[in-house]
Amino acid sequence: MIPLPLSQQALRTADSPISYFIRKAIETDGLISLAAGLVDESNFPIADLAEATAAILDDPVAARIALQYGSTQGLPKLREQIVQMVCAADGVRPAELNLSAKDVVLTTGSQQLLYLLGEALFDPGDIVICEAPSYFVYHGVLQTRGVRAMSVPMDSDGMDIDALEALLVKLAASGEIAKLKLIYTVDYFQNPTGLTLAAERRPRLVELAKKYSTGHRILILEDAAYRELRYDGPDLPSIKKYDPTNQYVIYTSTFSKPCAPGLKTGYALMPQDLLGVVLNLKGNHDFGSSNLIQHVLSRLLASGAYARHVEKLRGSYRVKRDAMLAALTESFADLPGVTWTIPAGGMYVWATFPEEFPTGPSGDFVKRCLEEGVLYVPGEFGHVPDDAGMIPTNETRLSFGVSTPDQIAEGIRRMRRACDALRVAPMLTMTTGTLA
Ligand SMILES: Cc1ncc(COP(=O)(O)O)c(C=O)c1O
Repeated sequence: MIPLPLSQQALRTADSPISYFIRKAIETDGLISLAAGLVDESNFPIADLAEATAAILDDPVAARIALQYGSTQGLPKLREQIVQMVCAADGVRPAELNLSAKDVVLTTGSQQLLYLLGEALFDPGDIVICEAPSYFVYHGVLQTRGVRAMSVPMDSDGMDIDALEALLVKLAASGEIAKLKLIYTVDYFQNPTGLTLAAERRPRLVELAKKYSTGHRILILEDAAYRELRYDGPDLPSIKKYDPTNQYVIYTSTFSKPCAPGLKTGYALMPQDLLGVVLNLKGNHDFGSSNLIQHVLSRLLASGAYARHVEKLRGSYRVKRDAMLAALTESFADLPGVTWTIPAGGMYVWATFPEEFPTGPSGDFVKRCLEEGVLYVPGEFGHVPDDAGMIPTNETRLSFGVSTPDQIAEGIRRMRRACDALRVAPMLTMTTGTLA
């Protein structure tokens, strides 16, 4: 066959490594998937969505408005509700952060926003700093744009800000800082580790971005996709809160996790000059995300149904999180070489095995786990190679999102059986570094 005339961008883009794992989970009967980042279906707010949709469609005037194209930026009323909601969570009025509905864009999931920003900001060879590990799918965006991803280690308080500063010093000394466009952080209950950026690190992050913004602004992309799924402790201030002039921080989140991913509606609050560029690009993509869904969400927020739903959801996910942590203790506590994070929210636990115990996609453990009927995501998908070209190969992402508490417990027991079957248990008695 004569080859397709593909663009450089298409040639740089591969299928997400995680798609295989999602397909596998769907195809294999009886498999317990601790891999998929799907949302718990039993908790979808079906009645609330039906009521809000019916209220629109039963009213011919409202229906005609909602079924027409909307605007590229999104429904003004919903943008106003979002800016109020985000600022209320931070205990400030929008004006205190130089924000209004004009600074908000509604997107087809927050994933679209991540991609649009990539188009707006990155040329091949540019640098983006991520956490190690980071959200797998974002690595795909960076790869498509030809970006060089560099990473900063995490500890139990999230991104290590001292290590970030050391990297910025190094980039400044080598002159490569001219290529650094953005620092990306999933700062609440991170996908994939479940870790949260500690309160005192948040203002420091903004200070560093400002300090090193000499030739151009170094932006911070705060991906708060899991912020509302909080099970313990108080809500922490956003990083955006420390950007009172609305210049450095792009705050993005989504209705996928706290409401339903099928709505595929995300949003971002960002600097005005960047927003204009993003809207031009979004005009080319789709000139506006689903107008009907935006009207439905606006009603859900206005009636209080959304807030009630999120509260209920927290209770249900908390039970699942606890089930996973209890099962890990029950099945792995006698193997001190295995450690795991204790997330205060979100959908993920990150388990670390000893260094010589490979959890990677082509290794024996993942195969044996599949034979036992359990699936996890190999941690290496979340990493980019370090200076020596190395990535950790002994980590796993475990999701408690879709499975029931009983399935979660059984899935973890199966993982332990897979360990035993490989006769690696004795080897796992040595201790190793831990994230939490
Ligand atoms: C950290 C993070 N950001 C963004 C997204 C994108 O979600 P959506 O496009 O459904 O809003 C996800 C989805 O899993 C995520 O985990």
